[in-house]
Amino acid sequence: MSQPECLYNLAEIDAALDSMAAQINADYADQLQPLLVLVLLKGALVTAGALLPKLTVPVEVDYLHASRYRDNSAADQLRWLAKPQTDLSGRDLLIVDDILDQGITLREVVKYCLECQASSVATAVLAHKQLPQPALVAADYLGLQVPDRYVYGFGMDNAERDRNAPGIFAL
Ligand code: IMP
Ligand code: MG
Repeated sequence: MSQPECLYNLAEIDAALDSMAAQINADYADQLQPLLVLVLLKGALVTAGALLPKLTVPVEVDYLHASRYRDNSAADQLRWLAKPQTDLSGRDLLIVDDILDQGITLREVVKYCLECQASSVATAVLAHKQLPQPALVAADYLGLQVPDRYVYGFGMDNAERDRNAPGIFAL
């Protein structure tokens, strides 16, 4: 059986999060109203937990829980498990997610936030999967590139296990 391959260790992930946070801190330095950070569960739990203490701008935190339908019948549909409880209208949002693959999840979540009259919607994603075709949306703040393989760890699951794996691993 093949061994999992460690693509990024914790120190490398931390360095990527440092540079994402530096960009976010610079971009929102003059922010008066707290930036509303929306954590996209479950995958972004660890990324958000590591990114938030690096932010120096005022923030509030809420979460949303959505996942892709994996059957082809509803390929572009998101299954919403929880919508944010905070009123999004007039707010500056930063959506945090674990991995950008085709971009369907982020595209739908951004669309929802704009429909809720958010003032601005930015996205921060730890990993970007290198697919042959570009993702439907680009992340505003991006940490690391990963190959077109199934990856897990640092919040990302391997059939619901291994979200605690200390790094990003490829099967
Ligand atoms: P997208 O909608 O195609 O961009 O898929 C993004 C979502 O699918 C992410 O938020 C993850 O939850 C999940 N996902 C996509 N690729 C992987 C992977 O390689 N490992 C773990 N989760 C993944
Ligand atoms: Mg996810």
